Amino acid sequence: MRCPSLVLPFILASLASALRIPFRTYSSTAHELLSLSRSTRRATASNVTVGLPIKNVNNVEYLGNLTLNGNTFTVILDTGSADLWVAGNVPNATDLGKSVSLSYAIGTANGNVHSATLTFGNYTVQNQAFVLVQDTSAFSSDFSTAAYQGLLGLGPNTGSVIYRKVDASDNSADSTLFRIFEGSQTTSDYITFLLNRANDAQESFAGEFTIAEVVPQFSNITNQPKLTIKDVPTLTDADQHWAVLTDGWGVTGPDGNFIQIGSSVPRVDSKKLVAVLDSGFTFSQVPRDMSDAIYGRVQGAIYDTTNELWRLPCDQELNVTFHFGGVDFPIHPLDTSSSDIQITKAGVTYCTGTFQPITTAFSLLGEYDVILGMSFLRNAYTLIDFGNFVKGGKDSSDPFVQLLPLTSQASAHADFVQSRLSGVDTTGSASKTLVPASQESHSPQSAAEIKAHREQKILKYWPYILVGCLAFVVISLGLCIWACCMRRKRQRAAARTAKSLPLSQQYNLGSFHNLSDSALPAAHKGQMESTDNLPSYSYSYKQYGQ
Ligand SMILES: *[C@@H]1O[C@H](CO)[C@@H](O)[C@H](O)[C@H]1NC(C)=O
Ligand SMILES: *[C@@H]1O[C@H](CO)[C@@H](O)[C@H](O)[C@H]1NC(C)=O
Ligand SMILES: *[C@@H]1O[C@H](CO)[C@@H](O)[C@H](O)[C@H]1NC(C)=O
Ligand SMILES: *[C@@H]1O[C@H](CO)[C@@H](O)[C@H](O)[C@H]1NC(C)=O
Ligand SMILES: *[C@@H]1O[C@H](CO)[C@@H](O)[C@H](O)[C@H]1NC(C)=O
Ligand SMILES: *[C@@H]1O[C@H](CO)[C@@H](O)[C@H](O)[C@H]1NC(C)=O
Repeated sequence: MRCPSLVLPFILASLASALRIPFRTYSSTAHELLSLSRSTRRATASNVTVGLPIKNVNNVEYLGNLTLNGNTFTVILDTGSADLWVAGNVPNATDLGKSVSLSYAIGTANGNVHSATLTFGNYTVQNQAFVLVQDTSAFSSDFSTAAYQGLLGLGPNTGSVIYRKVDASDNSADSTLFRIFEGSQTTSDYITFLLNRANDAQESFAGEFTIAEVVPQFSNITNQPKLTIKDVPTLTDADQHWAVLTDGWGVTGPDGNFIQIGSSVPRVDSKKLVAVLDSGFTFSQVPRDMSDAIYGRVQGAIYDTTNELWRLPCDQELNVTFHFGGVDFPIHPLDTSSSDIQITKAGVTYCTGTFQPITTAFSLLGEYDVILGMSFLRNAYTLIDFGNFVKGGKDSSDPFVQLLPLTSQASAHADFVQSRLSGVDTTGSASKTLVPASQESHSPQSAAEIKAHREQKILKYWPYILVGCLAFVVISLGLCIWACCMRRKRQRAAARTAKSLPLSQQYNLGSFHNLSDSALPAAHKGQMESTDNLPSYSYSYKQYGQ
């Protein structure tokens, strides 16, 4: 029985490394994607109403502007992280003397935490903490050609690396939206965003971000069911995301049936999926079996093992619907396959499946099943109410999300026929019907993924394993003590009649003295060391397109 010496360090090591799991992946660099689809670009509607305009870069990045000490920065709007960083010049910024390293898809954002006066929309924050990246050579691509100069994290404050590093007694190191809400500049503490679809002639709105107000055209979002954030269990505060539960069997696949894939998250109804809303992901991340159920029955679809995603004929219409709070959220067929990221193989052009198997963003701790990125978010106007996550705020209610469907399947179908099929509806032709479920193609799991899944299974049951181990230790110790007592009693009895035994034999606790980590799998040791300096959201670089 090596239970305590093997399993316990393994659990601790896994926990340590899991806290620093790669959380997200991005598309490749903006300029690469730009060059991919420049030909298909079209101007988007520009009748912005109340909020901050959001710029859509080819459906792969959504950007907004803010200023720091008067200088304007265009930043990625990211609900999946909580830190602000910019690369460039912020005049007279105050260096707080703490260096921070944030890993992203484009590389590592290294720099010192600074503070400056920030404006975002109508709001001004004094001494906003942010990472000032002075050397962009750590980025893996030529940052100077990117459409943005930084990233604004809109996620829960507890996930902020700056917040944890600066450890201010006041709120001064809190993330941007928390500072705005704490500053009593608003009467309520919610944000909303509307992400438009590039290359969609029929869409009637432009991208827009609002703080404490809703876009009038979609004001009925406030009547939508409230999806509470706290429904979702998290193990540590740092792992708190804007995560909500789907309904039971939360996704309807292209054949019109529920995709019956259960949750891997312990302590939730196993038919519901835990879904993180993350505007920083170009492609949504779903369980591999779900991605296969969506694309694996398409005639002519191929799985790209290098980029870990499905490629399919661009004229294949796929209807997929998500379900939240009893409301249907149809995904536009222009979003289930992306023509913005295409490849050509043996003379055939393939579009890209935008519901990608979750691999690098895999939740080792089993905290979420799905990451809803841009391919989902274009289909739902999104409201996130920060509630009592804002300290000392006026809002004591639990945080929640409201989603308003933006896509109607019938008009989306007409749109697809127009955009992808030049107006000729071939979606019903024999070559476009799905092959029977029994002939579905399954994408291969990588060795790393198999290992991660095995570890996740252990982690899922770790409370039981831990209790089992503790019980084992307690019982073993009890037995040993009892055995020692008995032995000593015998020895005393023996001593009374003869001579005593050597000391070493009296305290032979053989099976317990070797509690070193020598039994720890080597891979885990390596992981512990190599990830020690990473923030809890490390953005793993993943190249799409080519
Ligand atoms: C700024 O405030 C005004 C007045 O409340 C509002 O009409 C406008 O939409 C706000 N602008 C932004 C960008 O939030
Ligand atoms: C950001 O500011 C720049 C320069 O002022 C401007 O050209 C650009 O259109 C703005 N972008 C957005 C998304 O508002
Ligand atoms: C920076 O601060 C100095 C000294 O306070 C001041 O003279 C200068 O104008 C400031 N520069 C900017 C760009 O605000
Ligand atoms: C925005 O512009 C589009 C196209 O010009 C139009 O159809 C739509 O009604 C406008 N929306 C609003 C809210 O004005
Ligand atoms: C919300 O309002 C929009 C635009 O007025 C309308 O198309 C939609 O059906 C409404 N949705 C709900 C759920 O009331
Ligand atoms: C997708 O849904 C629309 C609207 O219900 C329907 O007209 C179209 O045939 C569907 N397409 C496929 C491939 O199922």
